[in-house]
Amino acid sequence: HLDASGQLVFPGFIDPHVHSRDPGATHKETFHHSTLGALCGGTTTVLEMPNAVPAVTDVATFERRRAEHGEKAWVDFGLWGMALGPANLNEIIGLHRAGAVAVKFFWGYALDRRTKGLVYDFSAAPPDSLLLPPENGEVLEMFREVASYGGVLAAHCEDRHILARSAELLGHPISTYDDLLAARPAAAEATSIAVGAQFARLTGCRFHVVHMASAEGTRVVREARAAGVPITAETCPHYLTLTDRDAARLGPAIKVYPPVRTGADQEALWAAIGDGVISSIGSDHAPHLVEEKMLGFGQAPAGGLGVETLAPLMVDAMVRGRLSPVRLAQVLSSSTAALYGLWPRKGAVRPGADADLTLVDPSGGHSISHDRMHALNPVTAWDGWTLRGRVTTAVLGGEVAMRDGEPVGGRRGRFVAADHARSRG
Ligand code: DOR
Ligand code: ZN
Ligand code: ZN
Repeated sequence: HLDASGQLVFPGFIDPHVHSRDPGATHKETFHHSTLGALCGGTTTVLEMPNAVPAVTDVATFERRRAEHGEKAWVDFGLWGMALGPANLNEIIGLHRAGAVAVKFFWGYALDRRTKGLVYDFSAAPPDSLLLPPENGEVLEMFREVASYGGVLAAHCEDRHILARSAELLGHPISTYDDLLAARPAAAEATSIAVGAQFARLTGCRFHVVHMASAEGTRVVREARAAGVPITAETCPHYLTLTDRDAARLGPAIKVYPPVRTGADQEALWAAIGDGVISSIGSDHAPHLVEEKMLGFGQAPAGGLGVETLAPLMVDAMVRGRLSPVRLAQVLSSSTAALYGLWPRKGAVRPGADADLTLVDPSGGHSISHDRMHALNPVTAWDGWTLRGRVTTAVLGGEVAMRDGEPVGGRRGRFVAADHARSRG
């Protein structure tokens, strides 16, 4: 029995940006923990990023991941593929046919050939074990390939040459948050976005910018869209709720790539949500060990928790008037579903949808604390925050699956294949 009196009923929220570390780094997080966190936070579908170890660079790995995750999923899930450039150009159409929601290209990162894991900081690594990110000519080739089958190419946008030179110019190791911002300037993001926009215009390939963090990047996307380029963008709650001024208080808990920037950047992102330049919000859930996150701004790995706080933080923003309920439904569900080929099954409350719902009490409240999180390493940037509005209930496939932050019944998550042809038709 479901009583929704006084509540807002949303199409089930989708988190399109989750790194569950499973397999490969299950001491940091597992698919069990991340999907349980998703459910308890009011998210009914997650799209799992391809950079577990081994990374999802071919169809065989995709199928294995699909089977393994199917056993652990508390919510429905889709899978990303990874695009490496020439090294797996002939695999990406297969990933698309297998139902990958999109392929992601990590502009500034290398791949370890041995482990098939992503290497974030490869300045010190032995070059012969690394597959470096492709040159721009090879990136253009990737755009052509993805365009040929009508898929979506998404990218982590930070130009690696700008990152390398900026770190060099800094002249000393990163020790403060200002150092970190100097080593990863907004120009690195905006440059990659601008190159991607050019390639999208040339090839007609749909290009999606994940976790956009800067006003500069936002401006490039807005101009390209105005010129008719098929480019879309995502941002994340940390860019919308934190700024560099929180770094002193939070320490390396705030460290994420691309970095959280200034209040002016944050305002530009909110404006872009308002005018449609940003059409999807994901958490970039990217857990690490608690001890690792205390290593300092230079040494701590980048990434933090997000999947369980995505909906509560965005609901709070809605109650405070930052975005309307309809806009919230779009950026957390219907636009995201359309973008990743999950339409019409997800993101719609209508015939053909599969009855995933998220219920919100706008007059309720919610407080975030480490000890109530379901993550394996529960350290969150929002510990101690008191939010307005409350996600009360999640319905998965027509059945109540979560009430008041705890699961109801067993796990019932299922794999969802993207179908881009149907989505666009
Ligand atoms: O901060 C980040 N962490 N940014 C990324 O792009 C990757 C992620 C991770 O997987 O740790
Ligand atoms: Zn990324
Ligand atoms: Zn990410």
